[in-house]
Amino acid sequence: MDSLEQLISLAQQDFRNVSDPVSLENAKAKYLGKTGLITAEMKMLGKMAPEERKARGAVINAAKSKIEAALNERRQELANEKLQAKLNAEAIDVTLPGRGRGKGGIHPVMRTWERIERIFGSIGFDVADGPEIETDWTNFTALNSPENHPARSMQDTFYIEGKDTQGKPLLLRTHTSPMQVRYARSHELPVKVIAPGRTYRVDSDATHSPMFHQVEGLWIDRDISFADLKGVYLNFVQAFFETDNLQVRFRPSYFPFTEPSAEIDIAFGSGPLKGKWLEVSGAGQVHPNVLKNMGIDSEQYIGFAFGSGLERLTMLRYGINDLRLFYEGDLRFLKQFN
Ligand code: FA5
Ligand code: MG
Repeated sequence: MDSLEQLISLAQQDFRNVSDPVSLENAKAKYLGKTGLITAEMKMLGKMAPEERKARGAVINAAKSKIEAALNERRQELANEKLQAKLNAEAIDVTLPGRGRGKGGIHPVMRTWERIERIFGSIGFDVADGPEIETDWTNFTALNSPENHPARSMQDTFYIEGKDTQGKPLLLRTHTSPMQVRYARSHELPVKVIAPGRTYRVDSDATHSPMFHQVEGLWIDRDISFADLKGVYLNFVQAFFETDNLQVRFRPSYFPFTEPSAEIDIAFGSGPLKGKWLEVSGAGQVHPNVLKNMGIDSEQYIGFAFGSGLERLTMLRYGINDLRLFYEGDLRFLKQFN
């Protein structure tokens, strides 16, 4: 075989044996580079007679073209292989099962909130919503707790920067009771409403959290008595706990905004605290001074109010002995409710 024919087949073999572009360019240098084998053949042309040179030159050029063709073909192959590998690596197997983001669930306290709205909605109570940042007047003064009144220290208050129009510091509402005043002042009588929402106090232990939830209830009409409070509240808790077999007690108490006042306790029916009483609510007949601040004639109208803790109701419903569990975000705890 002619030496050039051999060179071509060697080059073709070399190119076929490399598996990446860098090695291919090195293999190219061996034949077509400055010191390559084809280049060396070219250099020898100079020593030949003109006739011979012409013929030999044509043969060398043909060989060079074949080697270049083999080189380009292999280049293309390697590029295709690389693309194919990339496509394979990025391939999406549409038959694989989805990765699944996990289903969210409703927080147990929010379930309580929804239940309460449903139960009171079914007996004709409106549902209202109000601000968590309150004025001193709405949170205290209008509720018959004027400045320096000892009852103000019953609730440890978070004050925030900024003042209201009377120059008093703004605060995070300590209870939902300011909603009694806001709602009654802006609605026609009779008033029959609940107002659930977040409340805040400097308070933290197994039955107290610095942020907690209350639901305020208010019913004002010409003849709504303390007996109605008892009836409505008992019906509510029986619907809420889905049993008539509840231990509920009304314990005489004091609030500046009600007279007479009571606190409502319910006994645990299950869980580690079974049989123990837990306070769930304050309540009472709306104080005449509060009616006045609502712009209501206390000679004509009378009513009751209550303010219940949603965490406490939830604890009783599920037999939970520590309310802080609600706010630790531990999925092992929270998953049990979904
Ligand atoms: C009040 O807040 C009154 N506004 C309730 C009221 C409304 C009385 C209308 C009369 C008329 P008290 O501070 O007792 O009252 O709180 C009411 C309920 O909120 C408690 O019984 C309890 O269930 C819940 N509660 C109070 N503080 C916390 C707290 N730090 N963490 C969790 N729940 C709380
Ligand atoms: Mg209390």
